[in-house]
Amino acid sequence: MDFHGRTAIVTGGAQGIGAALVRALHAAGAAHVTVADLKGDAAREVAAEVGGLGLEIDLRDRAQIIDMIDRTERDHGPVSLMCSNAGIANAFDLSVTNIAGAAPEEWQAAWEVNVMAHVHAAGHLVPLMKSRGGGYFLHTVSAAGLLSQVGSGPYSTTKHAAVGFAESLALSHRDDGIRVSILCPQGVATPMLSGIGGAGPQAGDGVLSAREVADAALKGVAEERFLILPHPQVTGYMQAKVENYDRWIGGMAKLQRAYRAGAETGTG
Ligand SMILES: NC(=O)c1ccc[n+]([C@@H]2O[C@H](COP(=O)([O-])OP(=O)(O)OC[C@H]3O[C@@H](n4cnc5c(N)ncnc54)[C@H](O)[C@@H]3O)[C@@H](O)[C@H]2O)c1
Repeated sequence: MDFHGRTAIVTGGAQGIGAALVRALHAAGAAHVTVADLKGDAAREVAAEVGGLGLEIDLRDRAQIIDMIDRTERDHGPVSLMCSNAGIANAFDLSVTNIAGAAPEEWQAAWEVNVMAHVHAAGHLVPLMKSRGGGYFLHTVSAAGLLSQVGSGPYSTTKHAAVGFAESLALSHRDDGIRVSILCPQGVATPMLSGIGGAGPQAGDGVLSAREVADAALKGVAEERFLILPHPQVTGYMQAKVENYDRWIGGMAKLQRAYRAGAETGTG
């Protein structure tokens, strides 16, 4: 995809990877970017930097997602690139006393933001994109959606679901001219990562800057690649998982054991 003259939406654009995507899209020649986030003031500030539209939105509400798309299309033309980037990393506990034990509200919140917000945006945009011969979805997922996430059942589970939905979207609508990419980094220096303690399994291969990840994302979208891996090590981990699932589970259990021991002694 060529970004020149395009209209894009970036959710979770107030900070972190989303804000970096907004700036990278603007630098790559996008004509308009809508910056949507629960943090309205911060979204408007990022939007002001690129002459875009800042919107306060709660992505857990389908009606607000539809309104975000309609308003962008009405004032700035057809959305060619929908970046469903916002996510939440909740219920983290490296000692994992019960991986299924997060409160029902925590599971629900993770489903709504990490998965259903992608579904609702696509649900509204697919018919519009089909009618004009195509469009593009960039979904920020995580390496946790391909491998796993030590320390959070809701995060690991919903990120896998996000991969599943993106695959469905990509294969069901390829012949409609619709393309999809999933952005699957490990650790990225953002408020989310500091919120879960910074260091952890996701930081083992190095923490990238949000800008580096946004640049990798735009390169992947420009090349129309489904899988975008800013940390190249993830390819090897995926191969190891497919080659021998049981050995991979054993290796991850060992990692979990080490982090549990660290959490219990206060060194993790
Ligand atoms: N930081 C990392 O290490 C890392 C690694 C892999 C994947 N990711 C993924 O990258 C994406 C962006 O993460 P980030 O690190 O920039 O996080 P972040 O917490 O810094 O930014 C996420 C943004 O999403 C917004 N948001 C959350 N819930 C929302 C809702 N209901 N409605 C509207 N906005 C909402 C937040 O207000 C925030 O501005 C997420 O999907 C995350 O899971 C992050």
